[in-house]
This record gives sequence, structure tokens and C-alpha cells, in this order.
Amino acid sequence: MQVTISGMALSDVAEVSALTERLAFLNWNSRQFESELQSSCTYGLVARDENGAFAGYALFHLVADEVELLAIATVPEFTRQGIASMLYKNAVTTLRHEGGRTLFLEVREGNATARAFYERMGCTVCGKRKNYYHDGESAILYSAELAFI
Ligand SMILES: CC(C)(COP(=O)(O)OP(=O)(O)OC[C@H]1O[C@@H](n2cnc3c(N)ncnc32)[C@H](O)[C@@H]1OP(=O)(O)O)[C@@H](O)C(=O)NCCC(=O)NCCS
Repeated sequence: MQVTISGMALSDVAEVSALTERLAFLNWNSRQFESELQSSCTYGLVARDENGAFAGYALFHLVADEVELLAIATVPEFTRQGIASMLYKNAVTTLRHEGGRTLFLEVREGNATARAFYERMGCTVCGKRKNYYHDGESAILYSAELAFI
């Protein structure tokens, strides 16, 4: 599969929002994504296949030298084909060049798939927030020192 990675635009928000709702890992609506894209500290990417089909997205903040990974998701029909890896590595390369040094993220303790993905990307556990989510689940905090990729 030929994958194209490009900057997230307002025209991508409907698909980004629909995927987020489908996967139910983040409680954001399309208006929140739109407002994120207005912010100068937001960095978003989308992935599409050779036919232009939406395959996934990633959203980050860069503040001073800290990068926060807000969300990363792959359309279920496209998982385990390296889409999220491409989004992550592409973003890290750009954000590193823009001054990002350390990346942080938080993830539900029970999200084994995402945790396996983050660990594969070289992120390491740096903390835990007990009962962080509304349903009482804890958040696991990860960090990574960004190297040029
Ligand atoms: C986590 C997620 C983004 C991974 O997307 P993906 O495109 O399938 O990831 P990749 O194909 O790039 O996987 C890279 C590596 O991550 C790990 N990984 C990914 N999915 C995995 C799974 N289901 N089980 C175990 N390891 C997994 C593997 O090491 C994999 O490498 P491999 O396929 O060579 O073994 C995707 O499963 C997803 O959208 N999950 C729901 C949304 C979510 O929870 N996002 C994170 C919270 S913000």
C-alpha cells in the first residue's frame, strides 16, 4: 500500500472526528478538532492510501521544547500496516526540527494496543495518574527523548 502523509486541514476534520467517535478513545467532537487546528502550537497529520482513502491521523502540541501527543489513531481496516508508525515518525522528525526535545503522552492503563505501539516507538513509562479517567481507570504516562529520525 502506498501511503501519503500530509498536514491536517479543516477539510480532514469530518473524517478525523468520525474515526475518533468510532474508536471512542477520546471524547472530542469536530468543533474541538477545528479549534485545535486554529492554534499555532498544534501539529496534525493525516494518512491516506493511494486512492485517497483516509487511513489515520495524529495530533500533537509543541510548547517550547516539549511535545505532547494528544491523539493517534488508525482506521481499523488499516491497522498493523505501519500507518501509525509513519505518522509518529514523520511528526517526530518535523517537531524535532522545530525544537521539540521531549515527548509526553498519557494513555489508559488498559489500552494494551496503544501501549504496545508507544513502547515500540521507544516511549518509556514515566508515571501513573490513578483514577484519572471519569470511569476510574488510571492513566499511564510515557515520555521519549526525541532523536532525529
Ligand atoms: C494504537 C494504534 C494507533 C496503532 O496503529 P497501527 O497503524 O496499527 O500501528 P502500526 O501498524 O504502525 O504498529 C507498529 C507497532 O506497534 C505495535 N502494535 C500495534 N498494534 C498492536 C497490537 N494490536 N498488538 C500488539 N502490538 C501492536 C507493534 O509492535 C507494531 O509493529 P508490528 O506490526 O511490526 O508488530 C491503533 O491500534 C489505534 O488506532 N488504536 C485505537 C486508538 C487509540 O487507542 N489510540 C491511542 C490513544 S491516543
